[in-house]
Amino acid sequence: MLEIKNLSVKYDDVEVLHGVSLEVGDKEVVALIGPNGAGKTTLLRSVSGLVKASCGETFFMGRNLNLVSSDEIVRQGISHVPEGRRVFYNMSVMENLLLGGYVRDKKERKQTLEYVFEMFPRLAERKQQRGGTLSGGEQSMLVVGRALMNRPKLLLMDEPCLGLAPIIVNMFAESINKMARQGLTILLVEQNARFALSTATRGYVLTNGKIVAQGETEELMGKEEEIRKAYLGA
Ligand SMILES: Nc1ncnc2c1ncn2[C@@H]1O[C@H](COP(=O)(O)OP(=O)(O)OP(=O)(O)O)[C@@H](O)[C@H]1O
Ligand SMILES: [Mg+2]
Repeated sequence: MLEIKNLSVKYDDVEVLHGVSLEVGDKEVVALIGPNGAGKTTLLRSVSGLVKASCGETFFMGRNLNLVSSDEIVRQGISHVPEGRRVFYNMSVMENLLLGGYVRDKKERKQTLEYVFEMFPRLAERKQQRGGTLSGGEQSMLVVGRALMNRPKLLLMDEPCLGLAPIIVNMFAESINKMARQGLTILLVEQNARFALSTATRGYVLTNGKIVAQGETEELMGKEEEIRKAYLGA
């Protein structure tokens, strides 16, 4: 479904991704792991059209995304859960969610809203509450719910569980598994190895802008110690 070929990205003159290739198959959940500053967020931003590639190509369902605007990428069915739980603080939960479905028509938005409330009942209970007054866990549900409102075929998630309590992380793993069973394709940026293992079937390790290991998540986790020492600097 998603195919990234030899992607390089520069900020000003500094190249931070150096020829990265990665694939996500239809209905697959793939984890992208790597240390701080490796370029994980940059890679997701590139798929969403928020930063431009200096080299390489990205295909989504066979279509080259390089010249497609970020707005059109959303329309094509790619949703991005950004790093750092960015909810709109002064808007209600409902308003936040409706914004996520802005490219879909009214009927679709209504149906999807029901789906999101089923996935995260807590959001339904707090429809009118301001985004900024939600707890950290609830804000995470809100950004994921907002991304789902676009009815994505591919969901990009940038460390949705960072800093959350283990119980909420487990709940998220369950939600992700549920979305995957329902046929959603997911590319998950994650530093929490256990969380990645409980959701993704395949993974890539990114360090200093390069893919240094890839394989089944079980296999990567089996080599965790080795990978950690060699690439993650821990
Ligand atoms: N807007 C920007 N302008 C210049 N440099 C940037 C910009 N955004 C990121 N960088 C640099 O690019 C590199 C990769 O950053 P990126 O945010 O993609 O890493 P990351 O793997 O997501 O890290 P983290 O785990 O800390 O979120 C870093 O060296 C960072 O300083
Ligand atoms: Mg990041």
